[in-house]
Amino acid sequence: MTNYTSINDIDNINSWIEEAKEIKANPLKNIQLGKNKTLGLLFFNSSLRTRLSTQKAALNLGMDPIVMNVSGDAWGIEFGDGTVMNGNTAEHIKEAAAVVSQYCDIIAVRAFPTLTDKELDQSEHVLKSFVQFASVPIVSMESATGHPLQGLTDAITISENATKKKPKVVLSWAPHVKALPHAVGNSFVQAMQKMDVEFVIANPEGYNLNPEITKDTPIYHDQEEALKDADFVYTKNWSSYDDYGKVLKTDLDWMITKDKIGDAKFMHCLPVRRNVVVEDAVLDSDSSLVIEQANNRTYAAQLVLKKILENN
Ligand code: CP
Repeated sequence: MTNYTSINDIDNINSWIEEAKEIKANPLKNIQLGKNKTLGLLFFNSSLRTRLSTQKAALNLGMDPIVMNVSGDAWGIEFGDGTVMNGNTAEHIKEAAAVVSQYCDIIAVRAFPTLTDKELDQSEHVLKSFVQFASVPIVSMESATGHPLQGLTDAITISENATKKKPKVVLSWAPHVKALPHAVGNSFVQAMQKMDVEFVIANPEGYNLNPEITKDTPIYHDQEEALKDADFVYTKNWSSYDDYGKVLKTDLDWMITKDKIGDAKFMHCLPVRRNVVVEDAVLDSDSSLVIEQANNRTYAAQLVLKKILENN
């Protein structure tokens, strides 16, 4: 594997999950693998989990992580080809990616969508520009349309907590006060499509994810119907994909409650807005896996970095 930019880069999810579990059981086993190697983490957007867990993963492999908040601290980067750079951008991605490649053996990038320009976001212009112009492997730490480190984490967490051979997993949309990206939902869908689970999506009318990603996964507009007999309820807000980036629904009737999910395990990538997305009674119960999920972010990232280091 050269780059990790999509769940589609996973060739065999079951073997990846088993390898992640081995890493979790013995996280320092490969501490020599990354010796004298540098991981550069470039953040165009905020982060808590991704920033710390990916650094922790690098440290567990003996790598030296270096971090930059690109939007706040670097020169404004231009991505357009042939642009006359007489505006706000001071450095072209061609130079920026080439320069950072000289300092780092792997570059990890977080760059969210605009949620105003669908075509630009779907083109993944930031992530793809790094892949094009960097001379070292690229890892997505969440891009415009995907969050593959999170999707891998979620697959590991479900595998660890499943009590039956083929559990029912429901991805349920929930309310939020802001317009949010589709990336987490997209990567979760792609991960579940690779696993041996009964998987359905529940979202209100107008909130269907990109049909090129959901494919033939059943989509319910009746949340109660979708949640019947669920073993895992994965909750996430996203803005409308069809009416791109818009918030169409502001009431709380899709909030996840203890009454709705019963004994099902609750999952969320975090950060989560309490009593908007999900009520306290769920997050504070033994059914919540959110802290365990966040812990698994380290081992998912460590697995990805290990595979890249072994292949380069
Ligand atoms: N789940 C996740 O990506 O968290 P952060 O945005 O804090 O990195």
